[in-house]
Amino acid sequence: MLKIGLIGDIHGNLEALEAVLEYLSTKQKVDKIVVLGDIVGYMANPNECVELVKDYDCIQGNHDSTVVYGEDLDWFNPVAKEALIWTINELTDKNKNILRDFPLTKIYREEDFTISHGTLNSPEKFLYMDRSFEARESFDLMETQLLFIGHTHVPQYFISNGDNSFADIEMVSDIDYKREIQLQKGKKYIFNIGSVGQPRDHNYKSCFVIYDTDRKTIKYVRLPYKVKITARKVKKNRLPKFLYKRILVGM
Ligand SMILES: [Fe+2]
Repeated sequence: MLKIGLIGDIHGNLEALEAVLEYLSTKQKVDKIVVLGDIVGYMANPNECVELVKDYDCIQGNHDSTVVYGEDLDWFNPVAKEALIWTINELTDKNKNILRDFPLTKIYREEDFTISHGTLNSPEKFLYMDRSFEARESFDLMETQLLFIGHTHVPQYFISNGDNSFADIEMVSDIDYKREIQLQKGKKYIFNIGSVGQPRDHNYKSCFVIYDTDRKTIKYVRLPYKVKITARKVKKNRLPKFLYKRILVGM
């Protein structure tokens, strides 16, 4: 019997993270907080964000992995790459070691869910999932009823009614924030929980999920935060200008 807050893609956005943690602990009184990776990269407070989440259950995202190992920088677009180089210089060795110790996936058998930053197949490759056919392999590999992912920064979810065939997988992209999703026995679900620190669905508000293991419900939440302060820090720290525009409108 647990109320679990699932958050991810924080990307060094301290104002968003503080607002979300405050909401989950005081308003929702969750029993547990789980972090789905990309704690750093893009915004100006990577150290503070690592220090705030380090005692929760965390997994690595692709940005966390890159700042730790310094590899794959050329995989990123020029804006992300520039912000990652800034982050590598900014992060303390202590916080890099904390990120290094996070696993890529984690299974919670009792609560019947798994977490991964991207797809469950080849989690070390951080593959995106935003179409039904990309969900199929993950459904095949799931040992739990639920899988929570992030990475695209766009909330959506997939439902498999049984055999995980392409035709069997339903994709839902228009999230109803007023309603809870009631989980049904015999079905499997993959929830992309959206992004706390850099949403890309034209809504600047932080996005995350609450899973009630007792009532078997999922709730998507949008929460406003002091986004102008975050944007000003982008300028002050000479991070790429595009990040300033992007954060204000959620793109
Ligand atoms: Fe991300």
